[in-house]
Parts: sequence; C-alpha cells; structure tokens
Amino acid sequence: MNTVWTWPELETRLFEEADIYLEVRGDRLHTRIARQWALALLEQEGGDRRVVEPAVILHDVGWSAVDPVKISAAFGVRADGKAEAREVNRIHEIEGASIARRILESLGYDERLTRRIVRIIERHDSTMEAGSLEERLVKDADKLWRYSGTGFWTEIERQEVDPRSYHRRLTLRRREWFLTRTAFRMAGEELQCRGRELEKRAPGQHRDSG
Ligand SMILES: [Fe+2]
Ligand SMILES: [Fe+2]
Repeated sequence: MNTVWTWPELETRLFEEADIYLEVRGDRLHTRIARQWALALLEQEGGDRRVVEPAVILHDVGWSAVDPVKISAAFGVRADGKAEAREVNRIHEIEGASIARRILESLGYDERLTRRIVRIIERHDSTMEAGSLEERLVKDADKLWRYSGTGFWTEIERQEVDPRSYHRRLTLRRREWFLTRTAFRMAGEELQCRGRELEKRAPGQHRDSG
C-alpha cells in the first residue's frame, strides 16, 4: 500500500536511507549539491518533483556495490570512453536501481512513481538519451555538480587532474552533456566563475583557500 508522506519528511527519510550507501565513495556532498541543482532546474523547466527529487537523492547508491579499487577507474571525465570504466559505471546504475527500489518500497512510496524513479537511476549515467523531462533533469543535475564551486575543486582533488585542463574538458563537454537549456546556461555561468577562480590562483596552487 502507498504511504502518503509530507515532503520534508520524505526528503529526510530518503537521505537517511541513502546515507550508508553514499558513504562508500564519499558521495554525500555530491548528492546534496546535485539535489540543489535539481530543485533549481525543476523551478525553471517544470517536471514532477515526486520523481526527480527521490531519483537524484538515490541515483548514486549503487557505488556501494562496486569494488572500491575499481571505482577509481570510473571517476568523472578522465574515465570517459574506457571499457572498464563503462562496465563499472553500468554496475553502479543497475545495483543502484535495485537498492533504490528496495528503499522506496520500504517507505511505501507510490508504486507508479517508484517505477519511473528506478528507470531513471538504471540509466542515469550510461546513456545520453532521456525518455522524459524528469530524466533530463536528473542527468543534468548530476553533471552540474562538476561545474559547481564545490564539485569542481572536489573532483580535481579526487581525480588528481590539472585544474586548467579539467576546466577545458568541462567546457568542451558542455554542449554534449546537457539536455536542458537551463542546465546548459547554468553550466556556462559556473564555468565563468571557475575560470575567474583559476585566474586568481598562484601557479602550482592546488586549491582555493576560500
Ligand atoms: Fe552515478
Ligand atoms: Fe552522481
């Protein structure tokens, strides 16, 4: 039977349920920031929050099922196109979909919405096509993390990449990654901010002090 949740209650429960899974790859912050992007996109683009928000909160729980040694092979833009990274990436989607289904069922969440959420999680990273507006928003919110102040510098440390070449990669990928005009525009604005941060840095400095 479906349980009727108030929205703040549901958000809190979803984050609580996801927490143990997100801890594995250090994805708590990524998830919180992706959720903020998702809310901003929902405001501009429309879409069903009952699908988008649970999907974005649960989208990366599947990393918990992947061998930690293999996880580093699948990190971010560096991993694009590598067969091993693709395989690991696929595991995190499939396992994530099944963990998300269990969580949503345990909360008595609406079955029809659950099916839509699980479908989005199951292909959130490996395909560029999107069957619905909600899927586009989740995919865009996930990628916007890399462009955000926190995400940009976190990924540079995590992936041990040069900040300027990372900035260039994100600039090149913007056109191919984003599925909504709003996310494309927001990513452009974020890139300008990251560009200004890079200009202020002394050569060789790894991170902003702020
Ligand atoms: Fe993911
Ligand atoms: Fe993600």
